[in-house]
Amino acid sequence: MDLNSAIKTRKSVRRFLDRKPDWRKVVKAIDAARFAPAAGNQFALKFVFVRDKDKVKKLAEASQQSFVKQAPFAVVVVSDNAKLERSYGEHGEKYTRQQAGAAIENFLLALNAQKLATCWIGAFVEEQVKRVLEIPDSDNLTIEAIFPVGMETRAAAGRGKSKPDLENILYFDKWKNKYMEPQVKIGMENA
Ligand SMILES: Cc1cc2nc3c(=O)[nH]c(=O)nc-3n(C[C@H](O)[C@H](O)[C@H](O)COP(=O)(O)O)c2cc1C
Repeated sequence: MDLNSAIKTRKSVRRFLDRKPDWRKVVKAIDAARFAPAAGNQFALKFVFVRDKDKVKKLAEASQQSFVKQAPFAVVVVSDNAKLERSYGEHGEKYTRQQAGAAIENFLLALNAQKLATCWIGAFVEEQVKRVLEIPDSDNLTIEAIFPVGMETRAAAGRGKSKPDLENILYFDKWKNKYMEPQVKIGMENA
């Protein structure tokens, strides 16, 4: 799948087949995450690949989202806040969140490119997730998100959510200016 298709067909899936995908595909998607940009090239994320069905069920309970337990696997993304706070002080926390997002998007696109399905789960009880996965109860370790991973059921297959129009999110040179100056008609001759 090319990059444009991987970006445009990615969508949240909340119904999964019972069938397990090849676990190597999940590892490959996690591998894609480490190529994301990171402040000072300090990668502060860990990925816990959960293959134990009972633990996936407990993660569904921790998020109170029962569809999570349908998935054969889950991946839990954890940031070490201390790493960037040591280097960047008060900016450290912002950088940690931003690079988690960048790495996670790589992971999501790489899952989609391999026809694996997931949904970003941001609502959960952090302490509960830490207990299930034996993650130390330190303020430095933040659970960024949980990703149930599996294969999309045919019944659930369909188009993704509608997205904002480009013209509503793009300004040129100054806030709220929707027009490129001078206005140039784009045709094949200058495309
Ligand atoms: C930070 C964040 C937290 C989210 N948390 C949840 C969640 O707890 N449960 C859920 O079902 N979806 C969650 N989502 C998925 C969004 O609902 C979904 O991305 C959005 O509706 C757009 O749909 P799409 O992913 O198919 O484009 C979350 C997404 C993000 C980025």
